[in-house]
Amino acid sequence: MSVLIGLVWAEADGGVIGADGGMPWHVPEDLAHFKAVTIGAPVIMGRRTWESLPERFRPLSDRRNIVVTRNEDWAAAGAESARSLDSAIALVDDSSTDWAWVIGGGALFAESIERATRLEVTELDVSAAGDTFAPSRAGWHPTAADPSVGWHVSSRGIRYRFVTCERGNRENTDG
Ligand SMILES: NC(=O)c1ccc[n+]([C@@H]2O[C@H](COP(=O)([O-])OP(=O)(O)OC[C@H]3O[C@@H](n4cnc5c(N)ncnc54)[C@H](OP(=O)(O)O)[C@@H]3O)[C@@H](O)[C@H]2O)c1
Repeated sequence: MSVLIGLVWAEADGGVIGADGGMPWHVPEDLAHFKAVTIGAPVIMGRRTWESLPERFRPLSDRRNIVVTRNEDWAAAGAESARSLDSAIALVDDSSTDWAWVIGGGALFAESIERATRLEVTELDVSAAGDTFAPSRAGWHPTAADPSVGWHVSSRGIRYRFVTCERGNRENTDG
C-alpha cells in the first residue's frame, strides 16, 4: 500500500499561515498538537520552512525530516533532501510507515494538497498580516472538530480549534 499523505497547518483569519519567514503568533497548544500528529512519521517540508524552524528544534525529533529544494548542494545535519515533491514522497513510500505529513509551507501545501488524504488544520481566531497562505479547502469537508462547538482558549489568549478534513462534500456523505 502506498504511503498516505496528510497536511498539517495552523491558519489565522483569511488563511494566513506565515509572515516574513515565520508564523506571526505563538500558540503552544498548537505546537503540542503538531507534535502529536506528526511524531513517529516522516515529515516533508519546503526549504524555507526548514529555515524557519529554530535551530534548537531542527531536525524535528523522532521524525524523518525530508526537505524539498531545487538546490542540489543543499545539506543540513539530520535532514534528507529531495529535488521534488514526488522524490520526497518516493523516499518515504515504503512499508515502514502508513502516513507522511507535509508540514509546509505555502508552496509545499499548494503542490501537495492534491495528493493528500487528510488535512489537520488548526484554526486560530486571530487577525494577522501575512504573506503566505493556506491552500483552498474546496472539495474537503470537516470530519471532526475539537472542540465540536466553539473554541479552546490558549494560555496566550488566542482562541483556536482543531479541524480534521477529508475529501468530498458534506452533502454527499451525510446521507
Ligand atoms: N502556519 C503553519 O502551519 C506553517 C507551517 C509551515 C510553514 N509556515 C510558514 O510558511 C512560510 C514558508 O512557506 P513558503 O511558501 O515561503 O516556502 P516553503 O513551501 O516552506 O518552501 C519553498 C521552497 O521549497 C522548495 N520547493 C518548493 N517546491 C518545490 C519543488 N516542486 N521542487 C523542488 N523544490 C521545491 C524551494 O526551495 P529552494 O528555493 O531551496 O529551491 C522553495 O523555495 C514561513 O513563513 C513559515 O513560517 C507556516
